[in-house]
Amino acid sequence: MAAVIPTETVLSTHHYTDDLFSFKTTRPSGFRFRSGEFAMLGLMNEGKPLLRAYSIASPNWADELEFYSIKVPNGPLTSRLQHIKPGDEILLRPKATGTLIHDALIPGRNLWLISSGTGIAPFTSVARDPETYERFEKVILVQTCRQMAELQYGIDIVDEIRRDEMLSELVGDRLHHVATVTREEPGPNTLVGRCTDLVRSGDLFEVTGTAPWSPDTDRVMICGSTAMLNDTKDLCEAAGLDEGSVSRPGRYVIEKAFVG
Ligand code: A2P
Repeated sequence: MAAVIPTETVLSTHHYTDDLFSFKTTRPSGFRFRSGEFAMLGLMNEGKPLLRAYSIASPNWADELEFYSIKVPNGPLTSRLQHIKPGDEILLRPKATGTLIHDALIPGRNLWLISSGTGIAPFTSVARDPETYERFEKVILVQTCRQMAELQYGIDIVDEIRRDEMLSELVGDRLHHVATVTREEPGPNTLVGRCTDLVRSGDLFEVTGTAPWSPDTDRVMICGSTAMLNDTKDLCEAAGLDEGSVSRPGRYVIEKAFVG
């Protein structure tokens, strides 16, 4: 018989666009994870659990769990998940895993968190973890989206970090947020173009006051679509960075954005 999957209670939801929303749930007692990991969550569907891998967007010290999701039209899970409201129950398997974690990287000076779309979710966990700022001098959170409204979740989390008394003191001016759009005029503090093109042109390094990637100083975490991962990975390799894993740490790590 299949093991029963525990449920957690939805505490809040926030709809950013017609296609994107975030939600918070209770955290199972005793559920430990490393910032950047993912877990399986979902709903019952015709008497069976329907689960998908979701990056945990909240940091490992938080009492609540947070997730950031796309709404796929006719998607078996997200077409229903998008309607959850406070008080509802979701299924959550309290076991986390993944490669976008500190232990998969060897020590360095700059940590680059490069994402497209909902691929930012693991990085809003990592960027809110004090350990990130103990390990790295500078943290650069990069997100590329098609439109301005899709950048709002990342903007809100960075605002939250800056407003948090303890985190803001620790982070100071060491967290840089680079938001880019590809299919709309950029708004204030936003660049135009794919993250990969900004690496190639050098604009990403110029706006953050950082030298181009070097194996001595730079560590990169990547999360996005398959095409984005492959292109960003190639740029890392071209810069002389080697791929890391939990069993063999390196200079960059990748994970695909799951629910697409
Ligand atoms: P673009 O508009 O030029 O395709 P998607 O919703 O298709 O996953 O795309 C999310 C964002 O990621 C879009 O801004 C898209 O840019 C960008 N993107 C798509 N493919 C790549 C890639 N290979 N490298 C970098 N960014 C990409």
